[in-house]
Amino acid sequence: MVRYNETDINKIRDATDTLALVREYAPDLRMKGREYWACCPFHKEKSPSFKVDPNSGRWHCFGACGEGGDVFSFVMKTQNLSFPEAVKLLADRAGIEIAIDPQAQKEAGRRKRLLAVCSDTVDFYATYLRRSPAADAAAARDYLSRRGFGSDIATQWKLGYAVGKGELVRHLRTKGHRDEDMVAANVAMHSHYGKGLQDRFFKRLIFPISDAQGQAIAFGGRVLDNSEPKYINSSETPLFNKSRNLYGLDHAKRSMHTEKTVLVVEGYTDVIALSKAGFEYCVATLGTALTAQHVKILSRTVNRVVYIFDGDEAGMRAADKASEHIDRSLSPEYSASPVNLDVVCLPQGADPADLMESETGKAQFTQLLLEAKPLIEFALDRRLGRWDLSRPEERVKALNDSVIVLAPLKGSMLAGGYANYVADSLTRAGGDVTEAQVLEALEDARPSRPSSDQYGIAEAEQGLRFADTFSAGGNDAAGASGLSQLTPTELMERELLALMIVAPAARDYILQNQNLSPFTHPMYRAAYDKIAEFAHKEADYSVKLLDEDIPGMAQLVTAYDFEGSGESVRDLADSLLYRLRESALERKIRIIRSDLQRDNENSKVYLEALTAASQELHQIREKRFQ
Ligand code: UTP
Ligand code: MN
Repeated sequence: MVRYNETDINKIRDATDTLALVREYAPDLRMKGREYWACCPFHKEKSPSFKVDPNSGRWHCFGACGEGGDVFSFVMKTQNLSFPEAVKLLADRAGIEIAIDPQAQKEAGRRKRLLAVCSDTVDFYATYLRRSPAADAAAARDYLSRRGFGSDIATQWKLGYAVGKGELVRHLRTKGHRDEDMVAANVAMHSHYGKGLQDRFFKRLIFPISDAQGQAIAFGGRVLDNSEPKYINSSETPLFNKSRNLYGLDHAKRSMHTEKTVLVVEGYTDVIALSKAGFEYCVATLGTALTAQHVKILSRTVNRVVYIFDGDEAGMRAADKASEHIDRSLSPEYSASPVNLDVVCLPQGADPADLMESETGKAQFTQLLLEAKPLIEFALDRRLGRWDLSRPEERVKALNDSVIVLAPLKGSMLAGGYANYVADSLTRAGGDVTEAQVLEALEDARPSRPSSDQYGIAEAEQGLRFADTFSAGGNDAAGASGLSQLTPTELMERELLALMIVAPAARDYILQNQNLSPFTHPMYRAAYDKIAEFAHKEADYSVKLLDEDIPGMAQLVTAYDFEGSGESVRDLADSLLYRLRESALERKIRIIRSDLQRDNENSKVYLEALTAASQELHQIREKRFQ
C-alpha cells in the first residue's frame, strides 16, 4: 500500500486545475458574480446549486444531495476511485512525480507495461473484428449483429475477435512487448509442447474488461457456437482481481452517480444489452459472486445495489449466496451511509440480455426493478419458503431457520424491524407468533458463517449521521422502525439530541453557543430544555429519562457509539446546527413567498423579510462551506 505525505498531497492539490476537472462532469460550470456554479454532477437538478472554489479546490452542492469535498474526493466520487488512486490520477494529470519507494516504483513500472500489453491487445482484436475480410471475422460480425450489437456497440465496448494461431503474440512482439509481460498479463501462454509462446485466446469473440478508469486489464472470450466452455476469462493477474473488478464499471459510473443505483448482473452481454436499452448504471461480476469488496467499491458512488439474478438454477444459487452480504453495516446506526441491497429474480430461463430483446421484455424488466425486494426480506422469504407453514411443527422450524438470516444483525434496528416481518409472516400463515418470540429465537441463533463488518464501512466512519441515512429515502430500516414518516428536519433534530446525550463535549458546546433552542419540534425542544437543566446540575440525564419523552430515543442513543475528539464532535454539532438553521430558513422563505403572493399590498415588508432571510441563508451556507 502506497503512502503519500502531506507535502505531495498539497503539491498535487495546488497543481490541479479544479475548474477544468469539475467541468468534465459539470459542463455548465460558469462564473456567477465572483463564484463558480454549475448543476450538481451528483444528483439531477435543473438550476445550478453546485459551487466550486477554484483556489481551495473545494466544492459543495447546496441542493438536494448536500455533498461536498475537495479535488480528491471529487475524483473519487466521479470516477469511483480509492483515495490512493485519486491521488495518482491527479498527480499524473498535473505531471507531478510522487515519491514512492524503489520496490513500489518497480511494481508501478511493471503495471504500466502490462497495461500497455492489454491496451495493444484490445486494439489488435478490435481491428481484426472491424476490418478483417477473413471468414471468422465476418462470422463474428454477423453473430453480433444478430444479437442486436451493431458496429457502434462493438466500438463502444471495444469488442474484438481473437484469431489465435500466435497472431497476437507476433503482433505484440513487433510492438516491442516482452514475452514475460504477455504471459503476466495472461494474453499469452507457454505452449505445452515446447513450441514457445501461444495466444491465450483463439476463435473467440473478445470482451475487454476494464478498470474504473477504462484501462483494459483482462479479457473474456466467448465462442460463437454452442461449444464448451462458453467463456474463457483471463485468470487473475497483477492487474486483474475478480473480487475487486467489475465488468462495465467504467461505462456505468457516470449514470451510477445520477441514479445513485447500480444493477449487478451476471454476464457481459447483459451489461451491454442493458446499457444499450438505457440502463447504463449496470455492471457484471466476472464469473464469481459479488464480494464485499465489490459492494464497498460500488457504495462509494451509489446507495442502492440491485442484484439481478438469472432465472435458472445457477441464478438461484447465486441469489442465496448473496445473503452472505447481510451484516451490521446494513443497519443505519452502524454506518453513515448504509447501502441498500435489493434483489430481483428474473423469470424462469431468462437473463437480462434476453429481456432487452423485446419491448415487452423491457417493460417487464422495468416492472421487476420497481418490485425489487430488500436482500434481507428476500433471504427471509427463501428460508420461510422451505417449510410448510400450515403445520405448527414446521412453523417452529421456519422460525429457527429464518432467524439465522438475522443473526449477523443481532441488536440492530434492522433486526428489530425484520423480527416483526418474520412474526407477521408466520402469523399470517396461521401461527400466533409475536415479535418478542422472534427476538428470543434470534438470541440463540448463530450466523451461518462468521460475520464481520465486511465492508469496513462501519469502522471507516467516525460518528453517525442519522439524518443522512434516514433521509436518503427508500431505506428499509427507516420504514421498519417507523422513522420513515419523519421529516429530514426531525431526523436531524433527533441526531443532534443523540449527540448531546452521548458526547458531553457536544452538549456543552451547543448549550454555550446557542442562545436559542435549535429545535423546532415540541418533543425535542422539551428534551433540549431537560438536557440543559440537568447539564448544569451535573446530574444523570439518562437515556431512560429521554426515552419516556421520545419513543425510540434510547435505542438511537445506545447505537450511537460516537468516539471522537472534542474537535470532531464540535464539527459534527456545527454541521448539524448549520443544516438545521438552513432548513429553518428555507421554510421561512417558503412561507414569506406564499404570503407575498397572497398579500400584494404589503409586498415591501415581505420583500425585506425575504432579502434578510435569503442573506442569512447565504451566510450560513458560506460558513458551512468553509
Ligand atoms: P451466461 O452463460 O449467462 O452467459 O454466463 P451470458 O453472459 O449471458 O452470455 P450469452 O448472452 O449467453 O452470450 C454469465 C457469465 O458467467 C461467466 C461469464 O462471465 C458470463 O458472462 N461464464 C459463463 C464463464 O466465465 N464461463 C462460462 O463458461 C460461462
Ligand atoms: Mn446469461
